[in-house]
Amino acid sequence: MFSRIARPAAHGLIRGLSTTAQANARVTVLGASGGIGQPLSLLLKNSPLISNLALYDIAHTPGVAADLSHIETRAKVTGYLGAEQLPESLKSADVVVIPAGVPRKPGMTRDDLFNTNASIVATLTDACAKHCPEAMICIISNPVNSTIPITSEVFKKHGVYNPNRIFGVTTLDIVRANTFVAELKGLDPARVNVPVIGGHAGKTIIPLISQSTPKVEFPQDQLEVLIGRIQEAGTEVVKAKAGAGSATLSMAYAGARFVFSLLDAMNGKEGVIECSFVRSEETESPYFSTPLLLGKNGIEKNLGLGKLTAYEEKLVSEAMAELKGSIKKGEEFIKSRK
Ligand SMILES: NC(=O)c1ccc[n+]([C@@H]2O[C@H](COP(=O)([O-])OP(=O)(O)OC[C@H]3O[C@@H](n4cnc5c(N)ncnc54)[C@H](O)[C@@H]3O)[C@@H](O)[C@H]2O)c1
Repeated sequence: MFSRIARPAAHGLIRGLSTTAQANARVTVLGASGGIGQPLSLLLKNSPLISNLALYDIAHTPGVAADLSHIETRAKVTGYLGAEQLPESLKSADVVVIPAGVPRKPGMTRDDLFNTNASIVATLTDACAKHCPEAMICIISNPVNSTIPITSEVFKKHGVYNPNRIFGVTTLDIVRANTFVAELKGLDPARVNVPVIGGHAGKTIIPLISQSTPKVEFPQDQLEVLIGRIQEAGTEVVKAKAGAGSATLSMAYAGARFVFSLLDAMNGKEGVIECSFVRSEETESPYFSTPLLLGKNGIEKNLGLGKLTAYEEKLVSEAMAELKGSIKKGEEFIKSRK
């Protein structure tokens, strides 16, 4: 029996290169030259689980690939530049990670990115559906609450949809929740695990502090401040960067953690659990993030919401309208697209 909130061992992050695990995954990063793409590619290059790392962007990939290729780890790095090289970058990909698109500036919501990022994600996932329909697709590009429905609709159009292989990367919300809880309770953050469910924007981000391991408790007023900080942590970074973008380094860490968990599970490791925004039947929202047991073929089992407190139930019900609206917006974007 596995715990639904077991903390994954992040190969290449916590253990560096000391792990003996070997694998031969080909991972493609779309948007590899960006603020997230570059440090994410660096972390992926450091992993013994990856034999081929393909870096695609519309700018600067030859330089990023040349630079990373000198690192003394086994992953062979190749760079691909511009739309005509996109199909080649996806050939034989086992996992595709997508951090392509524009980030927020102060005053913007994630939904304000929709107009630009919806087309970028649709174009890139269209190529995935054509050239690597079996790959695990991990979407970082915001608004995740809409870009996952977009990806699903694109795959459906091509007749290759498998909901167990399409993931909205919400890991940064979990990483932040772990860090903030550890700070408040004087714990080692590497040993804290807080499941975060719902979606990836404002009040749709629902940390389940009641299910934290180790168990922690806060008075209601402190709990509300903590949850508010987790929900607005992205905005905290956007404000601090003052126009120079949103979270990139912590997002790269979180993205790498998610990919390593996926690769571990694909390699047959048992009990690997991550939260992710996916197609779901756990609530009335057609997409929803909950802890997922990962396996060789992606999602093996949705572990559901677990037992919620009355306050957490209220947060879930208050998130529904926004979640459903963002999902519909993504689905309609693809329906109206030629
Ligand atoms: N899921 C999360 O938790 C989370 C956290 C932070 C940021 N994000 C999102 O990640 C995305 C990227 O953020 P960033 O800070 O790296 O932005 P950035 O502007 O630094 O980098 C984006 C990269 O995407 C590339 N790009 C643009 N259009 C492309 C296309 N059609 N094909 C391939 N590449 C393309 C750009 O050339 C650039 O290199 C944003 O949408 C941001 O909102 C998500």
